[in-house]
Amino acid sequence: MPDPKKLRPRFVILISGQGSNMQAIVQACQSGDCAAEVAAVIASRAETAGLAWAASQGIHTVGLAHTAYPNRETFDTALAQTIDQFSPDYVLLAGFMRVLTPGFVARFAGRLINIHPSLLPSFPGLHTHAQALATGVQSHGCTVHFVTPVLDHGPIIAQGVVAVHHHDTPESLASRVLGMEHLIYPQVACWLAQGRVHLTSDQRVLVDGVTTRLFTPGQHL
Ligand code: GAR
Repeated sequence: MPDPKKLRPRFVILISGQGSNMQAIVQACQSGDCAAEVAAVIASRAETAGLAWAASQGIHTVGLAHTAYPNRETFDTALAQTIDQFSPDYVLLAGFMRVLTPGFVARFAGRLINIHPSLLPSFPGLHTHAQALATGVQSHGCTVHFVTPVLDHGPIIAQGVVAVHHHDTPESLASRVLGMEHLIYPQVACWLAQGRVHLTSDQRVLVDGVTTRLFTPGQHL
């Protein structure tokens, strides 16, 4: 929960690549739609297109090449120390393609959020769009959730649904899902900044006291 005495809650966003979700969140903060500050963008590589874009916006950037560390624990320790320098209220994983150690997840428990390109609990892991097409589901989408030590698992804050079309390829479906990601992740960031998201003792998420936050195409957010 953001400290009400602080004017603007702070996010640190973690990326691994292009960072289009990160850009959507930054733009929501810049436009005033989201009353938060992106204090830093940290990548799991020394250089990425997303880092270059964030730097061009005047945001602190750090490229932490995971290949420079002997194992997951040492990388996650360095990552946690880097994050702590920016004192974030929330750490937002936005296409951060690393499995996190339980120690890292515990350190940021309740403040660590992820977006995954499927309607969890369906299709955790990689190649979610190909998995959706292979199973013949008629709807697919994305999930914003609190992070637990289990990969692509945790209390769900919001989901966005898109239709699967008969002519879809993994690429066309990914593009439709990504468009939905760019709607729901900034919206969730906004709710977090406003202190409207609550995790209950039985690990359910309430936004303004309501559990269901399901977005569909064309829905006005
Ligand atoms: C997004 O589709 C995001 O949901 C996914 O990676 C992509 C990153 O795109 N994340 C995962 O698969 C995590 N399990 P972006 O860098 O353009 O935001």
